[in-house]
Amino acid sequence: MQDYARIAAAFDARPPGHSLPRSLYLDEEVFTFDQVALFRRAWMHVGFEIEFPATGSYQSIKIGDAPVILIRDRSGQIRGFHNTCRHRGAELCPEGSGKAARLVCPYHQWTYDLAGKLIFAGRMQDGFDPAQHGLRPIHVETVAGTVYACLAETPPDFEPYRRAVGPMLAVHNFQNAKVVHTATLLERANWKLVMENARECYHCAGRHPELAITFPIFAKGNFETISEHEANFDRRMLQLVLPSAPAEGAWWQAARFPLNEGAVSMTMDGSRGVAKLMCPTGDGDIGSLRWALEPNSFAHSTGDFTFTFYCQPINARETLVIGKWLVHKDAVEGVDYDLAKLVELWDTTNLQDRDLCELNQRGVNSPAYTPGPYSEISEALVHRFTDYYCATARAFLDEQQAARTPTSSAAIAA
Ligand code: FES
Ligand SMILES: [Fe+2]
Repeated sequence: MQDYARIAAAFDARPPGHSLPRSLYLDEEVFTFDQVALFRRAWMHVGFEIEFPATGSYQSIKIGDAPVILIRDRSGQIRGFHNTCRHRGAELCPEGSGKAARLVCPYHQWTYDLAGKLIFAGRMQDGFDPAQHGLRPIHVETVAGTVYACLAETPPDFEPYRRAVGPMLAVHNFQNAKVVHTATLLERANWKLVMENARECYHCAGRHPELAITFPIFAKGNFETISEHEANFDRRMLQLVLPSAPAEGAWWQAARFPLNEGAVSMTMDGSRGVAKLMCPTGDGDIGSLRWALEPNSFAHSTGDFTFTFYCQPINARETLVIGKWLVHKDAVEGVDYDLAKLVELWDTTNLQDRDLCELNQRGVNSPAYTPGPYSEISEALVHRFTDYYCATARAFLDEQQAARTPTSSAAIAA
């Protein structure tokens, strides 16, 4: 068992309400710890049901550093497996998407059905039991057309998220959507710096002039209602019977909030990005539903499209950010939307954020860096993220400690 004493000491050294101690942003040992303590234990928003249009449709992706396959089986259910052959461990599917009648390992052709059962292994000796060599499954859940996966043996309870956020997602009609653009950005920054940046708009006034046109950059916390504009929006959503009240659990948040006066979408000028709406209620003028999962994703759903942000750590100082844009499946490019116009705001914003995260990393690399205080007014969600990170890490460390400590009866017996 790995000795986590040094990492535990870094968490102990964190001053409350401050950014994290330096080693937590720099050390490869901490990167590995983050994979074990967070990425292999949390629910991740990994995509949409429409990305699995037929039996055998698969997506080969990564959850943290773990390659996984998500695939629609013959009963229509989306299943998940670790992307490693049970023979000598070869990768079964290269990263990307496709369709397969069965999963055949490219190395020695061991073959698995869509439920992960080993159905062919050539020239194996008597006594070899295929039933003992099926693919290792992971947990998968779907809610209103969105898909989640968790690598833990016993995942966190998913039902509170389903109950609270499911109705909010349902109005966006994800079962009738299509992905029209994906963008992958390499950021030379620790994944936690990427997520901290994604959880605050303290930097928006100075660094996101385009986003500030539509996005309420001075909104508080999980978009609490404070202004008259926000109160009017809440009343209008109530009339439209659209769930909009902020909801949150330990590892998720969702809230529908009003865009700036005059804006109906998150585009460069606030005008609709797509004429064919995903949610036609209120003529699509329904603000944005922000839904976010700790530790690594957020999404914005306006009446016309959805943008999702998924953070995938590569090592201690490099992170991939994967963005996806979804529109109604019947929206026609060049007729209902101009793709360049649709993606411009988030593309621009993501590039600006990449520069900020890299700037942050370079500064944190300085031996003079010490944790600095959060603004209680503007950085509540960053504070929430780092508190979540520290609490989750602490719970893991405590479990490891308990596993090492002999029980009192064992101690007496000894
Ligand atoms: S490693 Fe897959 S068949 Fe050998
Ligand atoms: Fe930003």
